Amino acid sequence: MAVMGSNLARNFAHHGYTVAVYNRSPQRTRDMIADHGSEGDFLPAESLADFVASLERPRKAMLMVQAGKGTDAVIAELVPLLEEGDMIIDGGNAHFADTMRREASVREHGIHFVGTGVSGGEEGALKGPSIMPGGSAESYESLGPILEAVSAKAPDGTPCCAHLGPDGAGHFVKMVHNGIEYSDMQLIGEAYDLLRRGSAMRPAEIADVFTDWNAGELESYLIEITAEVLGHTDAETGRPFVDVVVDQAGQKGTGRWTVQTALDLGVPVTGIAEATFARALSSGTVQREGLKGLLDGPNAETTATPKEFASDVRKALYASKIVAYAQGFDEIRAASAEYGWDIDLGLPSALWRSGCIIRAGFLDDITKVWRSNPNLPSLLAAPEFAKIVNEAGPAWRRVVAFAASAGIPVPGFSSALAYFDSLRSSRLPAALIQGQRDFFGAHTYKRTDKDGVYHTDWSGDRSEEKMS
Ligand code: 6PG
Repeated sequence: MAVMGSNLARNFAHHGYTVAVYNRSPQRTRDMIADHGSEGDFLPAESLADFVASLERPRKAMLMVQAGKGTDAVIAELVPLLEEGDMIIDGGNAHFADTMRREASVREHGIHFVGTGVSGGEEGALKGPSIMPGGSAESYESLGPILEAVSAKAPDGTPCCAHLGPDGAGHFVKMVHNGIEYSDMQLIGEAYDLLRRGSAMRPAEIADVFTDWNAGELESYLIEITAEVLGHTDAETGRPFVDVVVDQAGQKGTGRWTVQTALDLGVPVTGIAEATFARALSSGTVQREGLKGLLDGPNAETTATPKEFASDVRKALYASKIVAYAQGFDEIRAASAEYGWDIDLGLPSALWRSGCIIRAGFLDDITKVWRSNPNLPSLLAAPEFAKIVNEAGPAWRRVVAFAASAGIPVPGFSSALAYFDSLRSSRLPAALIQGQRDFFGAHTYKRTDKDGVYHTDWSGDRSEEKMS
């Protein structure tokens, strides 16, 4: 019955469902009923046994508890009270591997375990979040309609909730959603920094730029709230709010999981990785404090007009954002193959169209791309997205080159451009790396002109041997 849990319970009740509610400390349940009991049909319980007894069969017990050990503890208490066919639904930000483990162990008791992503923060939980459920298809038959009823609705009216695949598929997609969220936020942060330091715009002016951008291809919740945050003035000092906040970004771990998992799967999610490291760098006070005044560099402003510069930054932001999404989808596809989830690639973007933190106009276009061609090698291979990134090229390069010459760090923009350039290069320096590997470790290499695997006798006469 913390905020997310009680808001979701209220959302269920607002849709006409009878909702049993339970919290480990009963006072929280009492408070929630005192504040919101009149909004719908609630059955408050003061013990887990009473909570379970008040549920209709097959029981649907949804957990909104802190991810990790807390979730395991509640599951251990709940399982003996449930019967075959009942369901436990975990709506927390659990790691997908934990969800796979929990699903397998709970299944032994004939109980369904549904790990589901829930995005949209407190307001989303109350008014309609984006919901990303995994678990068995059988559990979705009776659970799905309830979750769909309380979920956000996309502009075309479809619920932002659908079954993504078995066991950990839902939590995996939520994890990648959060990774993309990190990347979106970092890119927006870099765009702000460029406008602020690179063309001396004030936060209130930059707020107007973001408001303007929100009316175009960048239209999204994060751009919208960026304008709000930048336009806000600190009541105490009268200074821009953004200037009184300590510049250290926190993280609870979902971005890190996205990157760790991508490393395991061998998927380059460079945009998400840079965004995650940028948060760590901002909070790395030992290095930032310790190196203050020691490192030198330029501090320059653009010669372009603010309007021209903002237009370049907008194009670079959109292109970098498309790259980050392409990488996130690559990770979902790789995990789906690795774990046999068979995720329909058009679903995550469809579910992210409303309710969630990364909701954005262009998710409709991404959904259409995957729906019409699920076998594309990358989102960037879709002609409409290839056209956007290709056309953004000159502006993107101007922005990254300017940032380097002006000493403004843009790890998100520049890594996205490097990814784009890597993909379009016909030859990469990886050939040299293969040569080095063969030199020091006889790791072998393949040739461009004939089949087989080769090794050069680097320490001897440099003759080449065909190894297989
Ligand atoms: C959402 C958010 C939500 C939350 C994350 C942020 O989809 O509603 O992603 O899950 O805001 O916990 O994580 P950090 O604290 O790591 O930024």
